Amino acid sequence: MIKKAVLPVAGLGTRCLPASKAIPKEMITIVDKPVIQYVVEEAVAAGIKEIVLVTHSSKSAIENHFDKNFELESMLEAKGKDELLAEVRNIVPDDVSIIAVRQPVALGLGHAVLCAQSVIGDDPFAVLLPDVLVDAEGLPENDLAGMIRAFDKSGQAQIMVENVPHELTYKYGIVALDGETPAPGVSAPLSGMVEKPKVEEAPSSLAVIGRYLLPAAIFPLLAETSPGAGNEIQLTDALETLRQQQGAEAYRMRGKTYDCGHQLGYLEATLALAKRHPQHGEGFRALLSRYADEG
Ligand code: G1P
Repeated sequence: MIKKAVLPVAGLGTRCLPASKAIPKEMITIVDKPVIQYVVEEAVAAGIKEIVLVTHSSKSAIENHFDKNFELESMLEAKGKDELLAEVRNIVPDDVSIIAVRQPVALGLGHAVLCAQSVIGDDPFAVLLPDVLVDAEGLPENDLAGMIRAFDKSGQAQIMVENVPHELTYKYGIVALDGETPAPGVSAPLSGMVEKPKVEEAPSSLAVIGRYLLPAAIFPLLAETSPGAGNEIQLTDALETLRQQQGAEAYRMRGKTYDCGHQLGYLEATLALAKRHPQHGEGFRALLSRYADEG
């Protein structure tokens, strides 16, 4: 069973400026929680017990969010604000630990994952890119849990994929498959993968969507990977070597994603999550219809 996850959060979030000038982009709020909390909750829901944040000196607000805030808790306790107190105390369950390591220089996603090696050790682990929110509404389990089951079955790395418009393939890692595209929730063997190809060279329209399950064998491959697309050490390039050596599978996602690495993605996530929020949903739906009526 995979119990560890790496969340690379060292990026400076230039696509989210000016919102991300003084706060990490992962701390931008969607309805009533920062983006990173949704991603941590997704990992916890899939059974992850140890979360490794690969972070940067300017982003300590993320670690603080998951740490105990003694002053705040004492104040809420003294004022009898029990519901709020429970909420700030239960951001992560007691049996889940959050560990932070630093990525001292921004050398790319592959390098960020390599920075977690000493904490992960020899265990297989998950990688969740916090730009991507994965919504499992209406599904019996989230996609990460489905990927973990697929990993337990085949023992091979799992890369979550979904179709994107072909003209946008240059923005993603793109995979090639031997056979047909698998049904949602199903994995299939990969026959290749390439990071941010030219549109005319993209081997398919199936893009890597920010969730991976990897064996520890990825670490030595990352250490040997030369800079690729964007002159960065790319996880996709090390994964392609891993695939050639021991195979890897594409897991077709079932849920819906919101790309919170850009403004419209945030807005869509806010709309989707606010509409069904237990406290604010009703009021939000009323607001939506009022604004829709106003055209
Ligand atoms: C990263 C990965 C890429 C993946 C994308 C979306 O790129 O390198 O393979 O398709 O995330 O999850 P980025 O968007 O960080 O440039």
